[in-house]
Amino acid sequence: MIKNYLKKTIIYKALVWYRVLRAKFILKHISVFSKEIKGITSDYGYSIQEEYRTLMQVINIEYCIKHIKENSITGSFVETGTWTGGASSYALLSMMRNGVVRTYWGFDSFEGMPNPTSEDGDHGKSWIGNDNTIVNNADREECYQFLLNTGYKKDKINLIKGWFQDTISVHKESIGDIAILRLDGDFYESTKVVMEFLYPQVVKGGVVIIDDYGHFEGCRKAIKEYASDQTILYSDDGVRYFIKQ
Ligand SMILES: C[S@@+](CC[C@H](N)C(=O)[O-])C[C@H]1O[C@@H](n2cnc3c(N)ncnc32)[C@H](O)[C@@H]1O
Repeated sequence: MIKNYLKKTIIYKALVWYRVLRAKFILKHISVFSKEIKGITSDYGYSIQEEYRTLMQVINIEYCIKHIKENSITGSFVETGTWTGGASSYALLSMMRNGVVRTYWGFDSFEGMPNPTSEDGDHGKSWIGNDNTIVNNADREECYQFLLNTGYKKDKINLIKGWFQDTISVHKESIGDIAILRLDGDFYESTKVVMEFLYPQVVKGGVVIIDDYGHFEGCRKAIKEYASDQTILYSDDGVRYFIKQ
């Protein structure tokens, strides 16, 4: 509650404003997407109203959406681990701006992270041990409203509450082909179950984004088990992605 209150204060708004200005400055100087700086920074500004996102995370999403548009890659956009909807909201706004119409599927427990297993190592344990409230405070209805407020077509937004282990296999047939699969469940089991059920549905030329490949060893391990034949590309210290061959 205190957190929600703080978000409405001038200080929080000023922080968002500062981050957007900084993003604008960086985009100008690295001359990536130079014609679209205004749209990207405005969508970035929306996505960080709820929680902080790095600029590199959204540049990566922007790049992947352009990739599926330019290469006519068919299928849905899926994010496993939506939390409050930061990355997903950016994806919806970017798809609208780029004229890409796809069904969106988001999955989250909306009850926080599961317990780490031995595959997640000490960093996994400390992530939960430190301050589990960070990833425990998402509410399905608030997240859904945040996604709807982007203006994306309501009938194309599916937001599924529950543990991946229970929900993903149930919805996998309805999801069908996947153009972009964004994994953001951090842990080994949370990455493995997604790779097992949804990776086969990522079409050739589609993109797999792994938000925490650089941060969590369990997440890396699961990706290597299912996609050792793929070329993993660097986006930033956490995010990696690959184009399915
Ligand atoms: C780091 S947060 C995701 C951040 C989000 N993508 C964003 O843009 O802000 C990780 C999320 O994954 C969810 N999660 C992790 N493992 C899960 C599982 N096995 N089933 C359901 N949700 C899971 C957690 O509830 C948490 O909200």
